[in-house]
Amino acid sequence: MLNRSACSIITTGFLLQKAPTSSCEHVIDTGDEVNEVQSGAGPGPGSACGVTLLYRGGGRCPFSCYKSWLDSIWDFLRDILRLGFGGKKGWFLWSRQRCQGITFFFFFLGETKRNDTVKMAWEEPRKTGMVYRRLGNSGLHVSALGLGGWLTFGGQVENEGTVACLKQAYDLGINFFDTAESYAGGQSEVVMGQAIKQLGWKRNDIVISTKLNWGGHNGEVLVNNHGLSRKHIVEGLRASLQRLNLEYVDIVYAHRPDRLTPMEEVVRAFNHVIEIKGWAMYWGTSEWSADEIAEACGIAKQLGLIAPIVEQPFYNLLHRKKVEGEFQRLYSRFGLGLTTFSPLKFGLLSGKYNDSPDTPPPGSRFAKGDDKFVNYMRDNYGNKSWQDDIEKVKKLKVIADKVGIPQSELALAWVLKNPNVSSVITGASRPEQIVENVKALKSMALLTPEIMKEIDEVVGSVELDPARQD
Ligand SMILES: NC(=O)c1ccc[n+]([C@@H]2O[C@H](COP(=O)([O-])OP(=O)(O)OC[C@H]3O[C@@H](n4cnc5c(N)ncnc54)[C@H](OP(=O)(O)O)[C@@H]3O)[C@@H](O)[C@H]2O)c1
Repeated sequence: MLNRSACSIITTGFLLQKAPTSSCEHVIDTGDEVNEVQSGAGPGPGSACGVTLLYRGGGRCPFSCYKSWLDSIWDFLRDILRLGFGGKKGWFLWSRQRCQGITFFFFFLGETKRNDTVKMAWEEPRKTGMVYRRLGNSGLHVSALGLGGWLTFGGQVENEGTVACLKQAYDLGINFFDTAESYAGGQSEVVMGQAIKQLGWKRNDIVISTKLNWGGHNGEVLVNNHGLSRKHIVEGLRASLQRLNLEYVDIVYAHRPDRLTPMEEVVRAFNHVIEIKGWAMYWGTSEWSADEIAEACGIAKQLGLIAPIVEQPFYNLLHRKKVEGEFQRLYSRFGLGLTTFSPLKFGLLSGKYNDSPDTPPPGSRFAKGDDKFVNYMRDNYGNKSWQDDIEKVKKLKVIADKVGIPQSELALAWVLKNPNVSSVITGASRPEQIVENVKALKSMALLTPEIMKEIDEVVGSVELDPARQD
């Protein structure tokens, strides 16, 4: 969060007082019990919300323990920003340090700005409330929630439904739409392209991505119709554009790594379709390891070529390892952005499967169609790993109820809160789901550090791999 936030303190106050009392809503214990630091925040001029937090820091007095005290303040500042005070003009925060019966009070009055909420030359004319974030270190802005067409568009959802979903998403401010050469055997690209034309969207208003690697359906001899060879990247993207009926995509992803093709060939081929052909603006990776992404970025740098700007990983409350445990250096060193997929773990985190232990509930993704993945999930429905997930999802329901939001909203808001995530690619079989899912933007503020801790206790937090510390 820190690297995306800026804080300017305009007024600072300092006060000594004996044995004060204060109220608190959140307690964050830094482990050292000797002294106590309490911090709070409240609305400043022009702001309508207030929160009080309490921290316990360590050390024998404010001057000998300044480091842990500063750490506490810094943590506190970070949490203020996390709580979404950013963008509100005017807030104050206070901190109290008690030492040998004397209490020191510090007051700060200032304003915060969040860099992940784009400040534009002109205000968004449509006032949808959508948040747009920079895609990694690139200049491209994507809506914090995106919409993808896997299993749905061209598959389980008929064409009219596809148009309705895309329209609903666009009307709510979503500008980022994702598909792939392999989705519904290419039909996802076809119907999404048709919907874009039918809806009459301007090409410059939307961000379209597709993905290459699985291929297969482009020809009869499959051997070169998949993978990341220069041949398939060039031919595959040309075929995708024909299906989409577009001149270019904004982002083309390598849908998986191809360990049989040299990395230099992959990097050069993506540069070719961007620089020479003009068929894509940027390229990215999907479900690559940290080492593979670093290798591609390193080769691109060495050769003066365009590096991948984004990774598209599986990331949700039940799958956190790569994004939180392995990618850390990629964010800071290469400015890698993330467009994460399956935030509801295919619908599981909405809670819709909680009370159907043996067969998927009618109308749900796993109850319909004969897609290979869906068939696999249906055949393995209710197995041990499914049950383990459902156990966690049921416990998350208690937290969602406490916060007062649907489970799906909790799951989406949780992903949105990760500052390294540029866009959360959602899926929807009906427009109403999109309406519900966009509400997660507002729910982010409800996921206080206390609630996040409760969530960690249910799903387990992720330790950053020491070898990948920044
Ligand atoms: N790069 C990759 O390898 C990869 C892999 C997978 C996905 N993706 C991308 O990510 C996108 C999203 O993946 P996903 O579809 O698996 O996302 P998801 O958000 O985990 O699941 C979406 C499904 O959950 C259900 N749902 C959505 N909102 C709901 C709500 N509010 N309440 C109850 N149920 C709700 C719907 O299924 P029902 O039919 O049950 O209503 C919907 O189709 C894909 O379209 C694709 O673009 C990429």
